Amino acid sequence: MGNQRSPLLLALVSVLLYSSVVLADPVTYNVVSLGAKADGETDSTQAFLAAWTKACASENAATIYVPAGRFYLRQVAFNGPCSSNAISISIDGTLVAPSDYGVLGDSDNWLGFSHVDGVTLSGGILDGQGTGLWACKSSGKGNCPSGATTLEFSNSKNIVVSGLTSQNSQMFHIVVNGCENVKMQDIKVTADGNSPNTDGIHVQLSSGVTILDSKIGTGDDCISIGPGATNLWIENVACGPGHGISIGSLGKESNEAGVQNVTVTTATFTGTQNGVRIKSWGRASNGFARNILFQHAVMMNVQNPILIDQNYCPDNKGCPGQVSGVKISDVTYQDIHGSSATEVAVKFDCSSENPCSGIRLENVKLTYQNQVAEASCTHAAGTTSGFVQPTGCL
Ligand SMILES: *[C@@H]1O[C@H](CO)[C@@H](O)[C@H](O)[C@H]1NC(C)=O
Repeated sequence: MGNQRSPLLLALVSVLLYSSVVLADPVTYNVVSLGAKADGETDSTQAFLAAWTKACASENAATIYVPAGRFYLRQVAFNGPCSSNAISISIDGTLVAPSDYGVLGDSDNWLGFSHVDGVTLSGGILDGQGTGLWACKSSGKGNCPSGATTLEFSNSKNIVVSGLTSQNSQMFHIVVNGCENVKMQDIKVTADGNSPNTDGIHVQLSSGVTILDSKIGTGDDCISIGPGATNLWIENVACGPGHGISIGSLGKESNEAGVQNVTVTTATFTGTQNGVRIKSWGRASNGFARNILFQHAVMMNVQNPILIDQNYCPDNKGCPGQVSGVKISDVTYQDIHGSSATEVAVKFDCSSENPCSGIRLENVKLTYQNQVAEASCTHAAGTTSGFVQPTGCL
């Protein structure tokens, strides 16, 4: 072979190699090609599981595509670990849960991802069909299952969820449990303001979770933050109806991981039960909440705009006469204004055993019926700066 020809051959070989790599990547699995039916009735669980099994086993990046239409699914467990650490699930359609709550029964979740690394979920509507279960719970008859979370990520990392709508969940809408590096953006949650236990997004035992640009209206907390949540960032969230953004309930267990380094910035609360809240059970625990920043919040007719409640004890069961062991410290409220629906707009009801410390109020202005609202403090210490109204009781 002549010396002049080899560069050409080399170039040809490189082009061939390059294009084969490009063509092999990424693989797309369309759930309809695997047997799913977009009629809202046919059980498509097996087709979704088949798509997941293939994507999970892929050596390269893989995409699962869900086209427009309604897909009925029973419980789907998207389990890892996977060979691929770049699985993208792209949804144009609606996933529909069984309306008969007996089908999911006491399953923890309807759509559950566990032990996965590198999953991106984008678009789509998740319809939890929760109204039947809510009616059962509200009837007070008992014998209702607790219900399933719509979407859960557990023991996973490097997760992105964007452009997703969750509606009418049976229990919590989205749960992040035992995860690292999770980003959620443009999430929409809708459920009736009276629907029981339908928290929007719940985060616990997880680090590096970010929730951005989301709109949450539901019957319980818009966002609830449980034990072991650290380095959590929440920005640009609209909440209402709902119970606000809540750290807690903490301290249910005597031995419990603490909550640390949580930022809530730029949030609006419309007609909610609470604005920004920290809540703990009135019972012994080694839990804590510290280095918390609530910043740039607007309250519109919120019942308890700023609240620390360390005496949670529903029905006086399991804690009568006890005080919370949870230590709350270094909590800053900065640039929070708007209207309270009750006279007491700022309430710090802390533990007599572990008083709240390092509470800082900075540029807070909350009104009640266009008048200055009130503040109430029990076992709370800290400072105020800038313009603060109601004037602190710290
Ligand atoms: C606090 O959390 C943020 C993410 O929300 C992170 O960027 C920052 O490094 C954390 N700070 C500390 C001291 O860990």
